[in-house]
Amino acid sequence: MRYMTNRQDAAGADNPIDMSTAHPARRYNYWLGGKDNFAADRESGDAIAAAMPSIRTATLENRTFLQRAVRHLTRAGVSQFLDIGTGLPTADNTHEVAQAINPTARIVYADNDPLVLTHARALLTSSPEGATAYLDADLRDPAAILDDPALRDTLDLTQPVALMLVAILHFIRDDENPRRIIEQLTATLAPGSYVVASHATWDYFSADMIKRLQANNSDQRFCPRSREQFAALLSGISLIDPGMVPVSQWHPDTPETSRPPDADVACYGAVARIA
Ligand SMILES: C[S@@+](CC[C@H](N)C(=O)[O-])C[C@H]1O[C@@H](n2cnc3c(N)ncnc32)[C@H](O)[C@@H]1O
Repeated sequence: MRYMTNRQDAAGADNPIDMSTAHPARRYNYWLGGKDNFAADRESGDAIAAAMPSIRTATLENRTFLQRAVRHLTRAGVSQFLDIGTGLPTADNTHEVAQAINPTARIVYADNDPLVLTHARALLTSSPEGATAYLDADLRDPAAILDDPALRDTLDLTQPVALMLVAILHFIRDDENPRRIIEQLTATLAPGSYVVASHATWDYFSADMIKRLQANNSDQRFCPRSREQFAALLSGISLIDPGMVPVSQWHPDTPETSRPPDADVACYGAVARIA
C-alpha cells in the first residue's frame, strides 16, 4: 500500500508527497537530526548508516561546507545565489548565511521534492532588503529553471551568480548527462559567477563496504563518483583555492585535529569561477 498526502502545486495540480518510499531530502534531514521525515526515510537512513557508520558525520560536514562556501563568496562580493537541490530547510540555510553578511542578497532555491517545496515556501523567507524565491524544478531540466519567471524576477543574470550544486550531482546518473546540465547552466551565467559543488564518493571504501552500500541502492538512483569523475564534470571552469578536496578541508574553520578523517567524510567539494 502506498501512503500519500496531497498538496497542490502552483498550477493547482496534485503533486503527491509519497511517504512510503525514502526520499533523499527527507533521509538527509533524518541524518542531520531533523524531524521532517517518515518511517521509510528513517529505515533507509538506518540501513545506509549500518553500511557506512560515518554517514551522519559526512552529512554534517557537507552542510557546513555549503555554509562556508556561501560565506566565502558573499564576502568576495557575490550577492546572488541559485541553490539547486535545496533540501529541507534547517539551520543556516543559504539565504540566512548570505543575508547575515549582505542583507540585500537574493537567493533562488530549486528542488524537485514536494515536501521541500511546502516547507521552503513557509520557511525560506528573506530579509526585508533582499529576496528569496522557490522553484519546484528538476536539475535535469536546466532550461526550465533558467527560464522560470520567478528566477528572472529575483536574479539579474547579467550580474554574477553563485550556482550551488551541493550534494545533488550524485543523484544524476551518467545517462542523464550531468556534464551537459552543468554546461547549460554555466553558459547562462555572467563572468565572475561561481559554481559551488560537492559530490559523494566511494573512493575511500573497501570492496566489501561498497558491496554493502550497493545493496541499499537497488534502484541505482545514487551515483557516487571518483575524484576524477567529479573533476571531469567541472572541467573547463577554474577551481579556486584549495581546489577539489574533501568538503571538511575546504577553507575549514576548525583545527585539523578536530576534523574527521577523509574516509568518514567521503565527499569532495569544490568552488569554481566562471571567467
Ligand atoms: C542531500 S540533499 C542536499 C541538500 C543541500 N543542498 C545540502 O547540501 O545541504 C539533496 C537534495 O537534492 C534534491 N534533488 C535530488 N535530485 C534532484 C533533481 N533531479 N532536481 C532537483 N532536486 C533534486 C533532493 O530533493 C534533496 O533536497
